[in-house]
Amino acid sequence: MLTLREKVEEAASAIRARTRVVPRFGITLGTGLGGLVGEVQVETRIAYKEIPWFPDPRVTSHSGTLILGTLGGKPVAALEGRYHLYEGYSLEEITLPVRVLKALGIECAVFSNAAGGLNPHFRTGDIMVISDHLNLMGVNPLVGPNDDALGPRFPDMCEPYDLKLVSALESLALKCGIRATRGVYAALTGPCLETRAEYRMLRAIGADAVGMSTVPEVIVAVHAGLKVVGISCITDLCLPDALKPVNIKEILRVAGESEPKITALVRHFIEHYPVFVG
Ligand code: HPA
Repeated sequence: MLTLREKVEEAASAIRARTRVVPRFGITLGTGLGGLVGEVQVETRIAYKEIPWFPDPRVTSHSGTLILGTLGGKPVAALEGRYHLYEGYSLEEITLPVRVLKALGIECAVFSNAAGGLNPHFRTGDIMVISDHLNLMGVNPLVGPNDDALGPRFPDMCEPYDLKLVSALESLALKCGIRATRGVYAALTGPCLETRAEYRMLRAIGADAVGMSTVPEVIVAVHAGLKVVGISCITDLCLPDALKPVNIKEILRVAGESEPKITALVRHFIEHYPVFVG
């Protein structure tokens, strides 16, 4: 049985053997938000099923492709197709791609997702720059023996989302004419949507948006020492006193319509990145 580090190395070596791209940015694309790939000058495409230890995408409907190329003039790796806890994947499987991108050389991980809006100021189609999160999944991907070569036993979480980068994304959004505000993302396992009582609770404990992804990958990215940014597309409003049944088709439609905003934001962000961290 291989260790996690050995699995990560095997996956990274298999990818290195197929591309000249040494990515600086790793982008994980959320539900309905895959359009960014159209802006990447693609050098290499690798199906997840051809990468050792990557979760088997046949279990789910989406394909799963790793794309390597350039975006905004910088080398990037984009994960098209992510894995959710509700699909039955283990946390190690869900987060392995982030570890592999780190092994390939990324310094910054960018995550996008579709989320329900809890903040009453939100409108559907708005962009929320994630400034912090609530892990309400009841599990943590770092539980178990720690490999110090991958990261510390007790990673600090006082600023999982780099706040300089949060501000940078907000200013870029303003410049591009995109409505975007920072907020707290709460992650639950799903797959059922939440009850009115749960939405009320989530708002009361400080969440601005709710979804079923991102947090496990962010925890692992922080453990791995990466800079992290997260962007949510608010696909539906979860206001307990005016709640309508969620329509998944509608969520995908809103995500698809807002996707160009996220793509523009991420492209500008990557293009100007050194200025923000310098
Ligand atoms: N809950 C509610 N609405 C949503 C979610 C969720 O997890 N994801 C996208 N819209």
